[in-house]
Amino acid sequence: MTAYETLKQQLRLEPKTWLITGVAGFIGSNLLEVLLKLNQRVVGLDNFSTGHQRNLDEVQTLVGPDQWTDFQFINGDIRNLDVCRRAMRYSHSPLAGEGRSEGSVDYVLHHAALGSVPRSIEDPITANQSNIDGFLNILVAARDANIKRLVYATSSSTYGDHPDLPKVEEKIGKPLSPYAVTKLVNELYAEVFASTYGFKAIGLRYFNIFGRRQDPEGAYAAVIPGWIAAMIKNEPVYINGDGETSRDFCYADNVVQANLLAATVADGAAVNQVYNVAAGQRTTLNQLYRTLQATLSAQFPRLASAAPVYRDFRAGDVRHSLADIDKAVKLLGYAPTHGVDAGLHEAMGWYLRFLNKKGSLNVDKFNKLTIQRQPYVSEDYETKGRFCSYWHQLDEIRKAMPHPVGHILVIGKGSGFIDSYLRQLGYDVATLDIDSALAPTYCASVLDMPLPDSSVDLVVCCQVLEHLPFKQFDIALGEIRRVLSPGGRLVLSLPDLTRTYKFLLQLPKLGQLAFVIPVPVPEFLKKPWTYNGEHYWNIGNKSYPVRLIAAHIESQGFTIERQFRVFEMSWHRFFIATAN
Ligand SMILES: NC(=O)c1ccc[n+]([C@@H]2O[C@H](COP(=O)([O-])OP(=O)(O)OC[C@H]3O[C@@H](n4cnc5c(N)ncnc54)[C@H](O)[C@@H]3O)[C@@H](O)[C@H]2O)c1
Repeated sequence: MTAYETLKQQLRLEPKTWLITGVAGFIGSNLLEVLLKLNQRVVGLDNFSTGHQRNLDEVQTLVGPDQWTDFQFINGDIRNLDVCRRAMRYSHSPLAGEGRSEGSVDYVLHHAALGSVPRSIEDPITANQSNIDGFLNILVAARDANIKRLVYATSSSTYGDHPDLPKVEEKIGKPLSPYAVTKLVNELYAEVFASTYGFKAIGLRYFNIFGRRQDPEGAYAAVIPGWIAAMIKNEPVYINGDGETSRDFCYADNVVQANLLAATVADGAAVNQVYNVAAGQRTTLNQLYRTLQATLSAQFPRLASAAPVYRDFRAGDVRHSLADIDKAVKLLGYAPTHGVDAGLHEAMGWYLRFLNKKGSLNVDKFNKLTIQRQPYVSEDYETKGRFCSYWHQLDEIRKAMPHPVGHILVIGKGSGFIDSYLRQLGYDVATLDIDSALAPTYCASVLDMPLPDSSVDLVVCCQVLEHLPFKQFDIALGEIRRVLSPGGRLVLSLPDLTRTYKFLLQLPKLGQLAFVIPVPVPEFLKKPWTYNGEHYWNIGNKSYPVRLIAAHIESQGFTIERQFRVFEMSWHRFFIATAN
């Protein structure tokens, strides 16, 4: 078991009280999520200068209601010493459970600061106030509240112009930006507080951190979220310099781990130190571009032929950055769980959902359609039936869409009506088919889809599962469930026996099949199939009772919200199911 696993077990058994400053930001909200899931008590402080209420809202949905009552939020500024003092206390909440007493926080994870090198170059005074004055306030308040330990976010920018690679903690150069100066001053202040007041602090020098909830918008967006957003929105991707600039990109989960280990490490020699926090892996900007392009072009085919726009090097940027993480490994027991690829894989699903939800995609567009509605069920299937059923399918898809609409996957190209219609309406639709001529997005089987977990909000699988043998029905449903985000919807339709009727008649022994057809052909063509009081529907070339099909859908992690039949040349049965 790793040091981190052991620590999480201990924290669950003996919950502690934590202050996270900058809690509404990217790293702060990731810390909050993990601590609340470990049943810790948390005070959060933020002034929303670069953080967002939506990050706190998202964490609330990810933790249980009881865990959320253990969180106390202060909307305040670290430039105000009184606010910092107030944040050092956890007050008893009438909503909190037994034994939740009030008192000083145990640990402070200080993350409130104005990030970004270019921002500090444009406005060094505000950067200085938040990052240095604010930091000093936190130090003083923490010292006076007798907290056990302060862990604070410093930065790889403190290595400045030092040429050595990889970077080891003891060798730093001259800072290259006001931001780097502020982080270096933080480290100096922490050292002086240790020697002067016996204060205990640990600085974590973050390299380029990325992950869920990192802001993809604004002039100071970090490279990974900024590029993902540009690619999805079909905007140019700019590379500053020749693209051979390199960084040590590190996924947020590794950072959370480093914070919790640093706050609680028992070894006295590990305290009052600074540590590199990174993945220890070097990636050039050109490599990063290619990875993002390859991942996203599966869903946005236009990206396959796109190229980045190269422009001048940016002032204050260091050329190469790569961490030696040995010190954190040895003294803190740090063991990164995510390399760059694994981190990008996890973050990508979040960005796709977030950016699609914020985009111009809009359910209301459906309601403005001017298609003339046909009767729902028509006996005149030669002329009206087809059209009426497609309209009905769109109508059901509209009703099934989560609101706001995210990413849609249409499985099975069919006539191309559904996906091309959705695309015309501006939705982001990926299509999957085993026939490459029919699969503009993915040429793959439903049994093994090249999509990340939880990356889709709606799967439309209409009249295509007849290609699947029933034996593999569970595997297909399991795959669909995997790529759907919780709460996402599945619209699934199955054909009745009519299509295979001619095939059945040609077989010498009808008894080989699931059952024998006991009704005259014309009747059979008009009605959904019922035998011995049981409704049957087709998967592959066999028929199965509807209740059995429904049980399979539910066993794969879905709740069936609605079932109904429609007529399109033959009968079809629809299931609208929600992913649990
Ligand atoms: N993300 C990275 O790659 C990276 C790299 C090195 C260091 N860091 C450091 O890690 C910390 C967190 O960074 P992040 O990426 O989560 O940034 P972020 O901008 O998402 O989060 C910072 C949070 O601090 C809050 N804040 C800023 N000034 C404040 C003030 N005066 N009072 C109260 N709240 C204030 C912001 O509203 C925001 O919610 C920062 O100290 C940053 O300098 C980050």
